[in-house]
Amino acid sequence: MNKDKKIKITPIEYGTVIDHIKNGHAMKVLRIIGVLDKKMDSIVSVAMNVNSSMGKKDIVKVENIEIKSDELDKISLISPRATVNIIRNYEVIKKHDVKLPEKVKGIVSCINNTCITNQNEPVEPEFDVIGKDPVTLKCVYCERDMKGEEISENVL
Ligand code: CTP
Ligand code: ZN
Repeated sequence: MNKDKKIKITPIEYGTVIDHIKNGHAMKVLRIIGVLDKKMDSIVSVAMNVNSSMGKKDIVKVENIEIKSDELDKISLISPRATVNIIRNYEVIKKHDVKLPEKVKGIVSCINNTCITNQNEPVEPEFDVIGKDPVTLKCVYCERDMKGEEISENVL
């Protein structure tokens, strides 16, 4: 690692680093983990458009907490190549990829206004994951396909 890179991205002592986020998508990750609506008050640092061997990426570091698995599912939808690093005592003690689920239930709302899931009926939105790159969802009720911003703007 060169000196320049070390200075730009400060290590953390304890917490979670979400790395390899698609560049430009850090704000969406912050929204998912609840930083933007003050659901949590941990120290958060963000790096955007960082150079990496696979092009530019964003990084989000959250101190003192480990990210919940439903939040990881949401992150997988907007950035399927993200990696999650659990840090303890400055060391990466666990590293895993976010995993795109086969079905997405209750974490994204359907973009179709006339869908049964948008009619104040007790029907939870549910999608099949029909594409991985780009992530593509198909509503099991109205069969509407969703991808890209349609998904990221409708993560619950
Ligand atoms: N990191 C951190 N604080 C630490 C240790 C690591 O913020 N105390 C961050 C690093 O900056 C990096 C991520 O956690 O963004 C993963 O660290 P590491 O596995 O050491 O980096 P790489 O080997 O480059 O990871 P990968 O192979 O996943 O790209
Ligand atoms: Zn629908």
